[in-house]
Amino acid sequence: MRLKSPADLQEKRQQIISLRDSSRHCVTICSGTACHAYASEKTALAFVEEIKSSGLKDNVDIRRTGCHGFCERGPIVVIFPEEICYLGVKPEDVSEIVSTTLMGKGLVDRLLYKDSNGEKVVHEGDIPFYKNQTRIVFGNNRLIDPKNIDDYIALGGYDALTKALFEMSPDDVMEMVKRANLRGRGGGGFPAGMKWETTRNAPGKTKYVIVNADEGDPGAYMDRSLLEGNPHSVLEGLIIGAYAIGSHKGYVYVRQEYPLAIENLSIALNQAGEYGLLGKNILGSRFNFDVTVHRGAGAFVSGESSALMNAIEGKVGEPRPKYTRTAVSGIGDKPSNLNNVETWANVPLIISRGADWFASIGTEGSKGTKIFSPDRWTVGRVHT
Ligand SMILES: Cc1cc2nc3c(=O)[nH]c(=O)nc-3n(C[C@H](O)[C@H](O)[C@H](O)COP(=O)(O)O)c2cc1C
Ligand code: FES
Repeated sequence: MRLKSPADLQEKRQQIISLRDSSRHCVTICSGTACHAYASEKTALAFVEEIKSSGLKDNVDIRRTGCHGFCERGPIVVIFPEEICYLGVKPEDVSEIVSTTLMGKGLVDRLLYKDSNGEKVVHEGDIPFYKNQTRIVFGNNRLIDPKNIDDYIALGGYDALTKALFEMSPDDVMEMVKRANLRGRGGGGFPAGMKWETTRNAPGKTKYVIVNADEGDPGAYMDRSLLEGNPHSVLEGLIIGAYAIGSHKGYVYVRQEYPLAIENLSIALNQAGEYGLLGKNILGSRFNFDVTVHRGAGAFVSGESSALMNAIEGKVGEPRPKYTRTAVSGIGDKPSNLNNVETWANVPLIISRGADWFASIGTEGSKGTKIFSPDRWTVGRVHT
């Protein structure tokens, strides 16, 4: 099970892909928190039963995925390879979908999106809500089961880590992130590469890297959706950052009110550990790195860097006077680099696709994409 080299990872990916038939139907059911609240699990179980009783078990896969971003119309079901998108799917709709779409190749019109002219929209990407979005960080949420590391690996997951560990020095990684001009997604917009450099250059051998998944802003669910729907993307970014900074210990500070994010993250950590993507001698690179999940108690102020580090130390999660930045003196007074969930999730993309690619997206002062989560009085949720 343990992958001991980049070649082992490639072999594993080939094995996963060879066992999958892309021409088979795959019914994906969004199982993010919002769709879960619409009882998406009952819909998923109805598909399991109906597909079994229709004798389609060997021809149709079922996959529970993370949030697609269109929560107000959940539970969302997308049927691949055609990418037929049904909205608001209830258990009682399932037998009609199976007989009409999976067996009969027809459409269940009443479950399709209808645009402002009443025209039906079949494919998810053609729904006006998604049309002007560039879904890069969030894009794989709809394709993978966050509880299955193989889904992430099949789509090239952990390739960026391999590239960083085996083809790049820590300096190269740092330079690439700086050149990409990745700015923190947690609110302050501070350049990530500069902060990493401060922690790396700070005196002391022990350094920490931390994911801020406190997400205290009311109505904000970007970090939750990412951590729930694609936890390995955050984890891979964190390991790459640790390598660049020279850290062997990471923390994810995640709010207690995000049980599904905690569950999926914990599963991801276990699976990554079993595959040798965490722990000692990652992929045979001699780089060691471990991660601990710390659950926050839901105080808004504890999302601030020094308060968050106090909480990780077991103290009251309130801010310290910041005479020295936490990047230099954080957890246990050791240099500690804190970045937001979305900031970390951008890192593997930058390493894989390059700084120029990243810098070609976005505005003059802020590169890359940004996930948005407007409150319920606006158009619903917009993710990019
Ligand atoms: C009161 C307060 C609450 C904050 N809450 C959060 C939060 O919930 N999530 C977050 O990522 N950053 C939060 N921040 C910002 C963090 O202090 C820190 O700047 C950020 O996590 C750094 O990550 P970034 O550079 O990737 O954005 C908060 C700041 C303050 C002052
Ligand atoms: S949780 Fe299903 S679309 Fe957001």
